[in-house]
Amino acid sequence: MFNFDEIIDRRHSDSGKWNVYDADVLPLWVADTDFKSPDVIMDAIKQRVDHGVFGYPTHSNTLAQTTADWVEKRHGWKINPEQVQLLTGVISGFNLVAQAFAGQGKVLVQIPSYPPFLHVAENTGTQMITHSLVPGVDQYEMDFDSFEAAASQASIFLLCNPQNPTGRVFTRAELERMAEICLRHHVLICSDEIHSDLVYGGQKHIPIASLSPEVAARTITLIAPSKTFNVAGLKTAMAILPSKDMIKPLSAAAKGLVGSPNLLGQTAAEAAYRHGEAWLAELLVYLEANRDFMVDFIHRNLPGINCFSPQGTYLAWLDCRALNLPGTPYQFFLDKARVALNKGDDFGENGIGFVRINFACPRATLLEALQRMFDVLSREGYLHSK
Ligand SMILES: Cc1ncc(COP(=O)(O)O)c(C=O)c1O
Repeated sequence: MFNFDEIIDRRHSDSGKWNVYDADVLPLWVADTDFKSPDVIMDAIKQRVDHGVFGYPTHSNTLAQTTADWVEKRHGWKINPEQVQLLTGVISGFNLVAQAFAGQGKVLVQIPSYPPFLHVAENTGTQMITHSLVPGVDQYEMDFDSFEAAASQASIFLLCNPQNPTGRVFTRAELERMAEICLRHHVLICSDEIHSDLVYGGQKHIPIASLSPEVAARTITLIAPSKTFNVAGLKTAMAILPSKDMIKPLSAAAKGLVGSPNLLGQTAAEAAYRHGEAWLAELLVYLEANRDFMVDFIHRNLPGINCFSPQGTYLAWLDCRALNLPGTPYQFFLDKARVALNKGDDFGENGIGFVRINFACPRATLLEALQRMFDVLSREGYLHSK
C-alpha cells in the first residue's frame, strides 16, 4: 500500500506551489499533487541517472507505442503510434495547435476555463470567443445553443475534458453533440485530456477522438502523465494527431521556440505508462475519498459555499458568492485563513466570486485548510449569511 498520508516538505524543493506564499500559508492552488511519484518511476529515473550522460535526446523510440498501449488500456481507444508526437507540455501543445491551424477563425474556449486557454488567442495572434458552461442541479452543464453560436464563428475548439476547473467529465452524448456541431461548422477540435486518468466512481473518460473516424480526423488530443503521476516538472506530454501529415505544421510552429522533450521526462513517462497502473488505482481511491471528505465538509460546515462534487480531476470549483465576502474570496481566504486557492476571476468572467481548490494532498493538509476556512468564516460571522 502506498502511503498518501505522508507529509513531504516541499518548501525546499523549488516547488512553485509551496514557494510563492509566506511560510504560514497552506497552498492548495497549483495543480500538482503533494504525493511522491511511484517507485516504478523513481527507479527508472535513477537507472537513467546512473548512465551519467544527459546529452540532447531524440524522441524516445518506445514511448509512442507505450502511449498507444496506455490509451487503449485505459480508455479502449486504439491509435497508431505514428500519430503520437512528443511535446514539452500540454500548454505549449494547445498554443502550437492554435498557431499552426487557427488561420483566420476564432479560438473557442468554454468558461470557466483553466486560465492558460484564455491567453491562447493573444499568444497566437488570433481571436477568442467564449461560451459558458452553466450550473445545473448537481453539475455544470452544456448550453448547446450558445456552443453552436460560438462554434459557427470558430476555427478551433479548445475542449478540456475532464474539465478544469469544474471537474466535469463529459458524457458520450455531450461529446457526440459537441463533435457533431464542430464537424458541421468545420471546426478543428483540440482536446486537452491531461486529467483523463483522474476520474472517479461511476464516471468514464471518453476521448472525443474515439467517437468515430470522422471525429478523429478533426481532433488533436493532448495528454500527459504529469498530473496523474506528479511529474509535471519533467516537461513531457503527447499530442495524438489525426495523421502523420499534421506533425509537419505542428513542428513548423514549434521551430526555434519550443525545444525537445526532457530526457528524464521521457523516462518517467515510459515507466508511468508501462508500470504505473497499480499505483494509480490506489491514488484514485485516496483522491476520491479526499473529494468526498471535502464536499461533505463544505456541505455540512460552510453554508454559503456551493460546490458540485467533481467527477474527475483533483480540483473543485467553489462558488462563494452567497457569502458576500469583502473583496475576492481568494484574497479573503489568503489574508485571513492563510490558505492559498486559485482566484476565480482568472478563469473567465463567470469565475468572479469563485475559488478553485486542489484536494490532491494528504488528508490532514486538506482538513487543516478547510478547518482554517471554517474558523475564519465562523469568527467573522459569515456562516449565518445563507
Ligand atoms: C487542463 C490543463 N491543461 C494543461 C495543464 C498544464 O500542462 P503542462 O504542464 O503539460 O503544460 C494543466 C495544469 O494544471 C491543466 O489543468
